[in-house]
Amino acid sequence: MPASWITPELLHAFDSAHTDAHRVHSVPGCWIERFGRDYLISYTTPAQLTDTRELLEIWCATHRLPLDRIYGKHLADKEADRLPPALLKGDSALPVKTSVSENAVRYGLDFSASYSSGLFIDQRANRVAVRQQPTHKLLNTFSYTCSFSVAAALAKSETVSIDLSKKSLERGRDNFLLNGIDTRTDAQRQRHRFIADDVFGVIPYLKKRGETFDTIILDPPTFSRGSKAKTFRAERDFGSLLELALLVAAPRARILLSTNCTRLQRHDLESIVRSTLNPLRLHGTLQPGESLPDIPDAAMPTTVWLKLE
Ligand SMILES: C[S@@+](CC[C@H](N)C(=O)[O-])C[C@H]1O[C@@H](n2cnc3c(N)ncnc32)[C@H](O)[C@@H]1O
Repeated sequence: MPASWITPELLHAFDSAHTDAHRVHSVPGCWIERFGRDYLISYTTPAQLTDTRELLEIWCATHRLPLDRIYGKHLADKEADRLPPALLKGDSALPVKTSVSENAVRYGLDFSASYSSGLFIDQRANRVAVRQQPTHKLLNTFSYTCSFSVAAALAKSETVSIDLSKKSLERGRDNFLLNGIDTRTDAQRQRHRFIADDVFGVIPYLKKRGETFDTIILDPPTFSRGSKAKTFRAERDFGSLLELALLVAAPRARILLSTNCTRLQRHDLESIVRSTLNPLRLHGTLQPGESLPDIPDAAMPTTVWLKLE
């Protein structure tokens, strides 16, 4: 197979780590993700789809991997053109909701839900970082299906997940349940909270209540319209978002800043951090997010971890 496909050694390493959600192939503008027995081809041109689809079937046969379904997702720039993946091959009667394993943590997927199926595999290393460093209380902003919260909860952390979408938070609760944590029980309701509201309104409220967090996740969309029609643009507003997060950061907290906005490179995020911390006379160290063996660096989100001093 060409070098754009993952090696048998890497496939074996994923298998040993109980990970069946990963990329299998990447070229600019087209890649394939494996989600258990299902595969998702993200493509720009119809020719890419035809070529990769044929090769995918050969790749699965070569590695004796079961292939239930192939989905295709046309990569669209405009929000209005972003459609859920289309089923290209496989039994349409199979459930659209499935689950996958990442480092033995389970996450639910729903291929019919929206443009995204429920798990951003490019955040795998950051989820590992959350799980490995002991946290007392995690704030997961723009939490989507709460994958960071689940990773923290499995490391015994309390969690607060905030997202505008009630549906995504419900899927987040399901992700907790998939991992044996029932957030609807009295005992867990105190430890894991889900707030369906605008991050920019909720953080000041948490501050008023005197809440602090020793890990904070800031992984916002490139653009969004919050409550009261207020817009968020990553390149314009990441500094204000960090400033807000600092209001509820515990001493020596660590804060993940991550973005898919192509106009924000690592040095941009680092200079946003410096220009936000300096006037507040705060200090911290910065560490770039780790690379992943199945995703080219150029296709990864820009990520830095800030550790406050
Ligand atoms: C890119 S996803 C975040 C992915 C998530 N960090 C993960 O790793 O799975 C963006 C999420 O932000 C939410 N969102 C957008 N604007 C928001 C806002 N102002 N307040 C709260 N959530 C918001 C969307 O509903 C969406 O679920």
